[in-house]
This record gives sequence, structure tokens and C-alpha cells, in this order.
Amino acid sequence: MRGLFILLFTTALLLQSHGQLYPDSERNVDTRITDLISQMTLQEKIGQMTQAERGSVEASGLWDIKNYFLGSVLSGGGSVPSPNTAESWVAIYNNMQEKALSTRLAIPIIYGIDAVHGHNNLYGAVIFPHNIGLGCTRNPGLVNTCAEITALEVRATGLNWTFSPCIAVPQNEFWGRTYEGFGESPGLVDSMCVAAISGYQGDDLSTDNTILACAKHFAGDGGTMNGIDQGNTILPEDSLRVIHLPPYFSAVDAGVGSVMISFSSWNNVKCHANSALINGMLKDEMGFEGIVLSDWKGIDQLNGDFKAAIKTAINAGIDMAMQPDNYIQFIDFLTQLVNEGEVSTERIDDAVARILEAKIQLGLFENPYADLALVDTVGCPTHRAVAQKAVRESLVLLKNDGILPLSKVNGDILVAGAKANDIGAMCGGWTISWQGGLGAITEGTTILEGITNAVGNERVVFTGNPNQVPDADYAVVVVGENPYAEGSGDIFGTGGSGFILSDEDKLMIEAVKDAGIPMVVILLSGRPLDIRDELVDANAFIAAWLPGTEGGPGIADVIFGDYLPTGKLSHTWPESFNDVPINIFRNNAGKEALFPYGYGLSFPTSVDGELANNMDLAVFPNPVNDYLVIRSESIKDATITITDLLGKPVIRKQENLSNRIIIHVGHLRAGIYILTVDNNGSRINKRIVKR
Ligand code: GLC
Repeated sequence: MRGLFILLFTTALLLQSHGQLYPDSERNVDTRITDLISQMTLQEKIGQMTQAERGSVEASGLWDIKNYFLGSVLSGGGSVPSPNTAESWVAIYNNMQEKALSTRLAIPIIYGIDAVHGHNNLYGAVIFPHNIGLGCTRNPGLVNTCAEITALEVRATGLNWTFSPCIAVPQNEFWGRTYEGFGESPGLVDSMCVAAISGYQGDDLSTDNTILACAKHFAGDGGTMNGIDQGNTILPEDSLRVIHLPPYFSAVDAGVGSVMISFSSWNNVKCHANSALINGMLKDEMGFEGIVLSDWKGIDQLNGDFKAAIKTAINAGIDMAMQPDNYIQFIDFLTQLVNEGEVSTERIDDAVARILEAKIQLGLFENPYADLALVDTVGCPTHRAVAQKAVRESLVLLKNDGILPLSKVNGDILVAGAKANDIGAMCGGWTISWQGGLGAITEGTTILEGITNAVGNERVVFTGNPNQVPDADYAVVVVGENPYAEGSGDIFGTGGSGFILSDEDKLMIEAVKDAGIPMVVILLSGRPLDIRDELVDANAFIAAWLPGTEGGPGIADVIFGDYLPTGKLSHTWPESFNDVPINIFRNNAGKEALFPYGYGLSFPTSVDGELANNMDLAVFPNPVNDYLVIRSESIKDATITITDLLGKPVIRKQENLSNRIIIHVGHLRAGIYILTVDNNGSRINKRIVKR
């Protein structure tokens, strides 16, 4: 470390001794940029516009950084050092930086990564709920805190750029990236993206706990036909402006440091080739002055040969090219294009100025190296507590016949379903590896562990096998999707098979139902699915989305009533595959949603009045009708009446179940009511209040 410092100090002295202005942090940014660009060769400029992948650069012994004056390195999903520890990341980052600083002008690199729900490539980092769940919190302040923590854990490893937030406005749940968006409403995405950007970037990018954010993917990535990833968004401009552009206006106003271009097309024109979109709408109309980054070899997808594609993309407004393994070819072709006058030096200088400005704002010229000062913050209990809160607030209660909240002291609990004991299932894609994976892929607390921690081992039994269903008083059955990312998660063309639960999950629910055990179903998924059959069998049903490493404790908080569910759907919930797309933003041609955008039940508000021992009254506000639950084994055959103060009965239906009585009372007006329980000669009168 000392050697690095000495190298840095002497380099800075050397540069300043030649009257260089750009190393001088006292100078204003524009002066520094102008001074530096005036000294750069074309090779040094084009090098700054080039982003290479970690593995490829390492294969060159890192010498490509020096030899090609590379401006940036990225780690694609799962591209990690070995061992995958914060210390290893700091080491590879510093080794790369040392190569960059050994170039003539000592321009530091900027290192980008998909930290999209925590520092999700890093083993042991806290993993937050994916955005579809964060959207259900309707809590921008919480999203801001999650982003702040992510920024801190990313900086702990030396890195300084996240390709996040994804501000797609997904309109078709067949899309494999639905879960990366905050929801189907541009207003919701708008509020959440500003919160995330502020969390990542803070007020001062040069501090040691802030990173450059990247709003992606510009534009209309969530609006492709049939939700086909990298497909074609066919929309008139005014619809694009109403649905997909608003978050970008806000992101630019919020000072987002970079924008990534979408692989997809808008009205058959690839976004990477669309100057009207990038130069016109993003840079001119919105006034974006940060870095426009291509997506992973997105330029290579354009018409014509690679050289023609480069010309189109750079002239369309792309400033930095993500060329993971063909960066040398990119550099050669762009050099030729400039020398042939096909790409102007003004365009090159504009792109380089944007890149240098980000590096100056990040303080990379003054502090290019990372240290180990923050490594202990990675995955720390404080961060995990915030993630647990995010889980609690992201859960959406879709059904509850009164079984929830479960008692922490009465009754044995069967936890069923393999995913109940699986961290990877809770995290979904973009976790440790690009596609994510099942199993103990990183540190966290499973749903089984969360429930066991809440009530104790003696009351919990687990099965992952529908042929082995032990008896219990209640069951928590965990079902859902296996992890996926990007196009791997597309389900258009599956004929609906991708939109329903797996046979294994259906069998598990059926087995618990056949065992006569009242059940709470927890769905782990990156999107709404066709759950009509399962809703019938479930006594309660919670959409948990992809809750991340703290899914266990966060879900337990709600199941046992330590937190009353507040989550509201961030997507309209279709009844079936055939109903997709169905959104607040379209004429749904008479299609009915299973649950509307914004739907979400809660637990009962507290009912005034004394609660007799072992009798627990609760009024359940419900869109259909209010109901009360009396949880008591001792009065299951009692005669129950509820009247208003004038003696008029209000009970519509009474269900006597094994361990509780459910009393449906229609939509009770606010007021005071008298509950009477005649139980084998003993009478209990209770005042209850509906607020
Ligand atoms: C991927 C994704 C993009 C990601 C990039 C780098 O293909 O489209 O969201 O940031 O490559 O991993």
C-alpha cells in the first residue's frame, strides 16, 4: 500500500511539475478537463471510451489497460475474483488502477458492475429485494437507504460504478426482466428511481461511500412486444413519452451520472443506433451531460459490419462502448473512423469530456486506490436489518381468511416446499452469478430459519417432499420460480406453462390440503403468475417476490404479526397467461384483473374493547366485506351475536373452523357494536369498535 501511495504522490508531483492543471483538485472541473483533453492523443481518447471485461483484461496480465489506455473495466454478472471476498476485489481493483496510473497521463479507470439489489456479485454482501418488491413498499426513503448501503458495500471492494437503477416500466410480465423494474406505473418508477440514484450518488460523488449510478435501459426496454427481451417496442412517440420516458427526465434532473442504452428497438430502430433518441431526446431535450454507455456488445448487434456499427452508435451519441472481449477491435475501428473523418474529433472530445468529468467528480485523480477500511461493513447486521425491513414492506397479502397472523405460542407449524430452505430461491437472478441459482449460494436466512427463529425448533417441522407431510396445526408452504435473468426468463411462447406454478409446487399444496392443514402460501417470483387454483386452497396467500438474503426474518415478521402487511401491488395481477398484458396504462378490452394495481390487504386494525383470555378478536378490513376472527378452541360451538347499539344484528355469515370462528359482518360502518358469546350457559358481552 505504501508503495502505491508513493507512486501516486510522485506521479502527481511529476505531472504538476510540468504545469499540468488537470491533477490539481483546486482547479474547476472544466479547466481540468480542457487541460487534459488538450494533451491527449487520439489513442488515449479512444481508450477512455472503451470498457473491457475483467476476465479479458486479466487474460492480458492487465497490460491491456496500459497498452490501450483503457478508461473502464466492468464485471459482468458472476465475473468475480477468487476467492470472492472484499479483500480480493480491492486487490484486483488496485492492480488494475496501478496499470492505468502508469500511463503517460495517469488517467484512472472507473470500474462498473451490476450491483442491482445489493453488491450482488459479492459473496456475503447483503441482498435486497429485487425492484418489483421494492416497488410494492411505496417507500422511496427505504429504497434510498437500500441504495446507500449498496453504494457503501460496492466502495468497500474498491468499485465505483453500478449499472443500476433499472428504470424500466415493464408492461408485459412475460419479460424475463420484469422483476428488475419497480413496477408498471411510470409514476411509481419515477419516485423510486430518484430515491435510488440519490442513495447511490449522495451529494458528493468523491466521498468513500458513494458511487456513480446508471439509469437503464434507454429507452422502452419494458415495452417490447410480448415482453420479448431485446425485442421491439412498437409505440407512437407520445406513448413512449407517457409510459417509458418520465423516469429518465427525473433521473437526469436528479443528476444520474450515466445512462445505459437498451438492446431493444423502438419502432424497429435499434436504440443503440437511434440518434434522435440519444442525441435528441436524452442529450439535447433532457440535457443529459453524463456518460452514455452501450450495453454488453450492444453495438455489435447493429446492422452492417462492426466498423459501420461503431460509426452509427458513436455518432448516435454513445460515449463509452461496453466491449467485454473485443475492445481492441473496437479501438482499431474507431481510430480508423476518426482518421477517415467518419467520426468527428468533436464527437470524440465530447465523449471523453463526459467520461473525465465523472472521474473527476468521483475524486479518482486524488484517490484512485481502494483500501480495506470498509470491508467489515459488507453484509453487516445493520445492513441486514434494513434489508429485513425492506422485505417486510415489500410483501403483498393477497388473501387471508383469518389464519394470519399465526400465533407465536400456540400450534405446531409445518414449513413445506424446497424453496422454504433455499437462499438462492429468495434472491433470484443477478445474485453471485448472472442467472442466480438455487441452494446456499451466499449468506442469509431462509424462510424455514426465519420461522424457526421466531417460534423455536420444538414447534416447527419441515418437509420438501409432498409424499411426507407431517401433521401440524398450520402450514407455511413456499412455492415459486427458479432463478433466471434477462432473456432466460422470457416466457412468451411457452403456451402458459411458464405462467403457472410447477407440478412440484402444485403437488405440495395439494398434499398439505389433503392433510387438512390450514395453510399460508408464500410465492417467490419475479412477476405475477396464474395462482387462481392455489388461491382457492390457501387460507392466506402472500406475494413475496424475490426478497433477497433476509427473506426469512422479513417474512416471519409478517406471518406472526410483528409487522402488519402494507405492501401494495406494483403490477396489475393477471388472471391467466391469456390476459397478459393487462395494465393501468392500456385499454384492457374488458379483461378483469385477478387483483388490481395497488391491491394489498392488511391484518386487522386493533379492535377496541377488552379481549377475554384466549379470545382474540380482530376486524379484518377487506374489499369484499369486513369480518372478525375469534381464535379460541374453547368456544367453537358457541352461539355468537353481534348487534349495533340499537340491537340490530349485523352478522351475515359465521364459519366455525377447528381453531377459530370467522364472522362475516359485511361493511361495518364505523361505530360501536356489542358482541355476545353464549357458550354452554356462560355469556360474554364485548364492546367492539369499528374505526
Ligand atoms: C447485460 C444487461 C445489462 C447489464 C450489462 C452488464 O446484458 O443488459 O443490464 O448492466 O449486461 O452486465
